[in-house]
Amino acid sequence: MKHEITLIINGDTYRLAVEPWKTLNEVLREELNLTGTKLGCGTGDCGACTVLVDGKSVTSCLTLAVEVDGKEITTVEGLAPSGEELHPIQQAFVENGAIQCGFCTPGMELSALYLLKNNPNPSEREIREALSGNLCRCTGYYKIVEAIKSASRMMANKKKRR
Ligand code: FES
Ligand code: FES
Repeated sequence: MKHEITLIINGDTYRLAVEPWKTLNEVLREELNLTGTKLGCGTGDCGACTVLVDGKSVTSCLTLAVEVDGKEITTVEGLAPSGEELHPIQQAFVENGAIQCGFCTPGMELSALYLLKNNPNPSEREIREALSGNLCRCTGYYKIVEAIKSASRMMANKKKRR
């Protein structure tokens, strides 16, 4: 039997009827066509499916959609909602060459967002720890770490200008 749930995704409210076994990842990708969130391992090991739920990073492949009824979800599509201006984290990934195949990128960027919201000026060790649940098979991580350092500076400058 389907359950009625409400999800607030990137500021938009969605009312859906979902089977109790559907994961948040399946609902995002298959029902709402928000395919920026990737599905890699499906077992909580790679971090490609990372999204924020009420501000906390979670693996959407291990989260049932019914568990997040009424909660606020941020996906990579929410980083640049207008589609015109990139979020500083995305800009920094581009400028630092931190993207190769790009499969890990949405999850990396959401983990970076979670880190920088809670620790705006992280050390390299803190960045590496924050990314420990996100695997990248292409970049060797160095450029991703550099991108997050650069995003932290960009976000601090943006705040100063306000
Ligand atoms: S797809 Fe969710 S952790 Fe790999
Ligand atoms: S850029 Fe290919 S997996 Fe990270």
